[in-house]
Amino acid sequence: MRALITGITGFVGKHLEKQLIAEGAEVFGTSRNSFIQNRYYQIDLLNKENIIKLINEVKPTHIFHLAGMSNVKNSWIDISKIIEVNTIGTVNLLEAIYKVDNGIRILTIGSSEEYGKVTNIDKKITEETSIRPVTPYGISKAAVSMLIKQFQQGYGMDIIHLRPFNHIGPGQKLGFVTTDFAYQIALINKGVINTNKIVVGNLEAVRDFTDVRDIVKAYYLIALHGKAGEIYNVCSGNGIKVQKILEMLLSFSKNKEIKIEIDPEKNRPSDLPYYVGDYKKLNHITNWEPIISLKKSLNDIYNYWNLLQ
Ligand code: GDD
Repeated sequence: MRALITGITGFVGKHLEKQLIAEGAEVFGTSRNSFIQNRYYQIDLLNKENIIKLINEVKPTHIFHLAGMSNVKNSWIDISKIIEVNTIGTVNLLEAIYKVDNGIRILTIGSSEEYGKVTNIDKKITEETSIRPVTPYGISKAAVSMLIKQFQQGYGMDIIHLRPFNHIGPGQKLGFVTTDFAYQIALINKGVINTNKIVVGNLEAVRDFTDVRDIVKAYYLIALHGKAGEIYNVCSGNGIKVQKILEMLLSFSKNKEIKIEIDPEKNRPSDLPYYVGDYKKLNHITNWEPIISLKKSLNDIYNYWNLLQ
């Protein structure tokens, strides 16, 4: 496999690079940032001509399209920007691939946020569940999932769309629930801040958390065994209340006096109460299942922030 990862310097990109190298792949990557690394390219996905040049140069067999804006809460701040980056950026990439080499396998990374307002919360979300996104982020990804059908059926392109649910792990930026909680608890324990209080948002939401190291294994296996034009959920199948995440992270704290403050500012214009996925379709073609326990993931995340200077 000669892989090109867009967004290689991001949280998932770094883990995927490691996984693909371990599998023996040759790995190249793109990022918006400038840096010196001969397998990395600085590229803006809004510039189609540059993407064409890049694909001609790298000649990948597989493209893992991770680049994009991933923060759901921030997606209300600049809605046109998220549509531009996540939706138009992906269309630019697909058009460029079509022009250069239709045989390249492309994995587009969507999200469980595409499902949006799920009505039957007694059932796990499958790929057959209707998409009714309610956040700008969810809409930006749902649009891609609809477009890939056109590219695959209309142009015969080899595209697969993935819908990962919440993925967590060491190295994730602040702005996501496990990092926001772990960071504050670590700061208190290190004595960096002079308070015994952490600020949190909606603790009632139920989400399906999977360690990023399991997620990238799934991406690799889907790249090998997935069927063109199909959509695959990537998730654990377990629903966990955000409150429970907080309790588990607090259990690692030496300081047992930490107080919790719920800040309404952390709430979103719409925050769906429940997302739990079904990964049977993925398991059926790859035998993949998540291995890393939630406790280990959270412990690694806590240690990551605790060890960071
Ligand atoms: N970020 C954050 N910070 N979320 C909080 C906090 C907090 O302090 N307190 C409570 N929450 C709640 C949010 O309101 C939400 O219900 C839940 O925790 C998860 O929030 P995030 O970790 O920000 O993730 P997300 O579900 O909005 O989106 C993530 O998962 C998607 C897949 O489901 C992101 O990783 C997306 O990129 C991804 O596609």
